Amino acid sequence: MNIGDPVRSEGIDVETPNAARMYDYYLGGSHNFAADRQAAERAVGITPTMIPGARGNRAFLQRAVRFCLEQGIRQFLDLGSGIPTVGHVHEIAHAQDPSARVAYVDNEHVAVAHTRQILEGVDTATITQADLRRPAEVLAAPGVAGLLDFEEPVAVLAAAVLHFIGDEEGPAEIVEAYRRAVAPGSYLVVSHITDHYDEPDRVEGISKLYRDTTHMANHRSVEEFTALLGDLELVEPGLVHATEWRPDTDVVPEGARNAFWAAVGRC
Ligand SMILES: C[S@@+](CC[C@H](N)C(=O)[O-])C[C@H]1O[C@@H](n2cnc3c(N)ncnc32)[C@H](O)[C@@H]1O
Repeated sequence: MNIGDPVRSEGIDVETPNAARMYDYYLGGSHNFAADRQAAERAVGITPTMIPGARGNRAFLQRAVRFCLEQGIRQFLDLGSGIPTVGHVHEIAHAQDPSARVAYVDNEHVAVAHTRQILEGVDTATITQADLRRPAEVLAAPGVAGLLDFEEPVAVLAAAVLHFIGDEEGPAEIVEAYRRAVAPGSYLVVSHITDHYDEPDRVEGISKLYRDTTHMANHRSVEEFTALLGDLELVEPGLVHATEWRPDTDVVPEGARNAFWAAVGRC
């Protein structure tokens, strides 16, 4: 099998559009099936923000990982890590320090299968198939507990994933559980879809579309996103649009600006 082929195996539902694989499509990846591509195209039809927004979020995640490396962080717990694309977290971390450790966690079969394939022969990164809504299970999983030393600082990454957790599931408590598990000096990196994109009335269309996928999308206002972070001490520039978080270029692609909130905080 080629790395670029979607992994299709028994038990995978390829008929229901899947949020992870739709995101892969927005990023220009090839780990997606026809139903994912069609739903992603419909989303792009509702708002062209989907593609530049997803790419802007991914670029934020990469800058945030580099920032954490600059602070001395050498351990990463990537929750909802997604389908590996160029510039995955372990690639960025290993470019700086090959001994840096990265524990990926995702609950989506294709994301996990491809990550496993890419990590073959890499002994400083793991992938765990688990649900981030169950922090105790995630933190005790062999791929996490066996790789990361929680006595030392860890960067917990939750990029573009908390919007898949409904208010009734207690997203703030889930975030808090991970914060409690890490040593002082750790960091939390978070991004989240906004409730306005570039045109407020497009939010309802996207919400409706995602109701027919594997994951509901919960758009949140800046106040609602702030509430998920509790008393986290944010580093500069605080809570901003993802494209505005320590940008490394002045050129922001049209439509990327308002799609995601982003913040990095010290635990
Ligand atoms: C939009 S992608 C984001 C990927 C990557 N974090 C990024 O920002 O580029 C969201 C990922 O979160 C995963 N996900 C959604 N809900 C999850 C859950 N409850 N537990 C673990 N992973 C989850 C999806 O399968 C998908 O791969």
